[in-house]
Formats: sequence, C-alpha cells, structure tokens
Amino acid sequence: MFESLSSPKPDAILAQMAPFKDDPRADKMNLGIGVYMDDKGKTIIPGVVKLAEQLLLDSEESKTYVGLAGNLSYNEAMKEIVFADSAPEGRVYGMQAPGGSGALSVLAKLMERMRPNAKIWLSTPTWPNHAALLSTGNIEIGEYPYFDPETCSVDFPAMAAKLRTMGPDDVVILHGCCHNPTGANLTNEQWDEVAEIVKETGLLPFFDIAYQGFGDGLDEDAYSVRKFASTVDEMLVAVSCSKNFGIYRDRVGCAFAMGANAETASIAYANMQNIARGIYSMPPDHGASVVSIIWNDDALKAQWKSELAVMSNRMTSLRTKLADSFREQSGTNKFDFIGVHRGMFSLLGLTPEQVDKIKKDHGIYMISDSRINVAGVQEANIERLVKAVLAVSA
Ligand SMILES: Cc1ncc(COP(=O)(O)O)c(C=O)c1O
Repeated sequence: MFESLSSPKPDAILAQMAPFKDDPRADKMNLGIGVYMDDKGKTIIPGVVKLAEQLLLDSEESKTYVGLAGNLSYNEAMKEIVFADSAPEGRVYGMQAPGGSGALSVLAKLMERMRPNAKIWLSTPTWPNHAALLSTGNIEIGEYPYFDPETCSVDFPAMAAKLRTMGPDDVVILHGCCHNPTGANLTNEQWDEVAEIVKETGLLPFFDIAYQGFGDGLDEDAYSVRKFASTVDEMLVAVSCSKNFGIYRDRVGCAFAMGANAETASIAYANMQNIARGIYSMPPDHGASVVSIIWNDDALKAQWKSELAVMSNRMTSLRTKLADSFREQSGTNKFDFIGVHRGMFSLLGLTPEQVDKIKKDHGIYMISDSRINVAGVQEANIERLVKAVLAVSA
C-alpha cells in the first residue's frame, strides 16, 4: 500500500540543516534555522530554565496524567504574560498545547467547528508552515498583501484595503509581533486601525505570537493582542514559549480563545480540550511546569526577563551594526530597513539565485527567500556578511 505514497516536498527551513553541517568551510555561517544563537553560535539553555528544572526535579511527586488542558497554573501564567490585564473577565480561556504549532493546529480545528465555510487569510509572505498547520478539511486558504519588497516594509494601505473586503466567514492570521519571515511590523497606530477594521467587518482575528519579548520588550510586543482584547468580541491566539524561554524541544505553547461572553468562551474551551483529546490527548508537562515555576517566583521571573532582554538587546544591536555597515560599504541607505525591522528575522531582498551564490561562494546559508536569522550573525562576521551580500547582489 505504501507504494501509493509520493515523497513530500522537503521543508524549506529544515532542509538547510544537513548541507550546512556537511559544509567543511570553517568560516561558514548559518543564518537559516530559526533558533536564537549567542555570539558563539550556541543555542544555550537559559540559566533560569536550569534553575527551574532543578526545582521541578526536586518537587515532582508523580508522573500521572496532567489533564486535557495541561498545567492550569501554566495557562494562568501565559494569560498574564500575553494579555496582562487586557483580558476581559471570564471571556478568555487558555489551554496548554504542544508548542505554538500545536496551538495553531488545535485552534484551526476549533475554527473549522465554528465556521466550516471559513477562508483563512495568510500574509504574503508568511511562515511557510502556517498553511500546513492551518489547512483542515474544506477550509480554503487565501493571501493578503503584507510586505512591499521595494521598501522592505509593510504595505499597510494594501493590507488594510484587502481586510476591508472581508466578512464574518473570513479568518485573518496576524503575527502578533516580530513578523516571520520579513521582520517588518505594524506600528501601534496601524494595529489600532486593523482592530477597528476587524470590529466593523466581523472577520475573526487569529493571532500567532511566537516571539514575544524578541522585539521591543515583553509588553510592547503584546500591544497588538492586548489592543484586540479590549476592542473586538472574539479572537484566537496561538502562543509559543519555544523562543522566549529557549525551550524549543520541550514543546510548550498555549491556545487561547476569547469569546463574546463567558458562556460562549467556556464552550470554546471545552471544544479545544475535546479536539486535543482526539489528537495527542494531553500535552507534555515538563516545559510548561518550568514556565509556571519561573513566572510564579519573583526572583526567577526577574531573571527570565533579564535573560530575555540580553537576547533581544543583542539582536537589536546587531541590526544597528548591520545597517551601519551596509550604509558604509554600499554608500546607500538601501539596507537601513534591517535596523528598523524587529525580531529574529529580516528578508534581505535577494533572489533565489543570489541566495544560492552566497551559499556556494561564501558559505553563508539563508532561506531561499533570503530570510536571515539575525541572531545567527556574530559581531566578528558582520563585515564579511555585508561584503558577501553586496558582492552577490551587485
Ligand atoms: C511564526 C511562527 N509561529 C509559530 C511557530 C511555532 O513554534 P513552536 O516551535 O513552538 O511550535 C514558529 C516557529 O518557528 C513561528 O516562527
């Protein structure tokens, strides 16, 4: 029977890992994979996570099932981290999920139950795995304009105009902050306008927030979600702790549903648990317990915030240095956008052929759409990277 299967297309991001590993060049650069790396190219476990893991190890008395919604104290912690005090009383429920990917997948199935004729709209471009995680059953996927390759910023007039044509059977996927792959983000005023459009048209906002704290700060990066929480009636939010807690492999995320009233919200929550039961049943506990321990201890919480700030400050400083170096070496402002973008990624605007060439000639690996992981850049490599980009794009 297996002969009826054909080989799936390799994942564009994961497919980079093996060729990079096999490349013998000592000065190769990995700007492809989407994990935070320090200036030595290491993805370390944050110190605060190590401390919380020890506390968990010492206090854990049982490995019995956690329940369909996972660790309830984790869910409460995530509500505070993402919504702060913007969550309308009784109308927001969070359910632990296996990573942000698990949260996206559960919420897509919830959406299908609510709006079986829905069309999901993704930004052009978006994280390539969105379509796979969100397409369920008959649900159609469409694209709304987002990134202007000429200016390397958000084409907000085009985005807003498209959203205004939508209605209650439409679901719009919004990157809460630190857009992947472009790095270009909406201003707070633009988020205010999108919230008003959503309210007027009745379309369902579905946030994916996977990089909170990697942009301008924990609270600043949650502006979008918090604004919507106080403006619209209903929304979905998929959250990932992979990056901001550095616990990628522990698979920690949270799926939120905000309902128009307490009764519909609690029915949505029951449905989310019912959906989880039919897929993986219960989420893995370890990482969620670690997050809960950190958030509920003042000293650990402060340490986490400061370790997170070290990561985001490093990325912001690399962005400034890259933009400065591009300005110096090219004699133009063409690459100033790198300093304006936020989060781990920026699209450089190279063609797939130029991306191939920079890999072949310089050992610099990026995604074929020219997405770079800014955290993969080391201070000592900035000049070499800039020279190589200018050489292949000349
Ligand atoms: C935009 C976006 N959403 C969601 C995720 C999923 O993260 P997780 O590893 O927690 O499943 C990622 C991971 O790269 C992402 O970039």
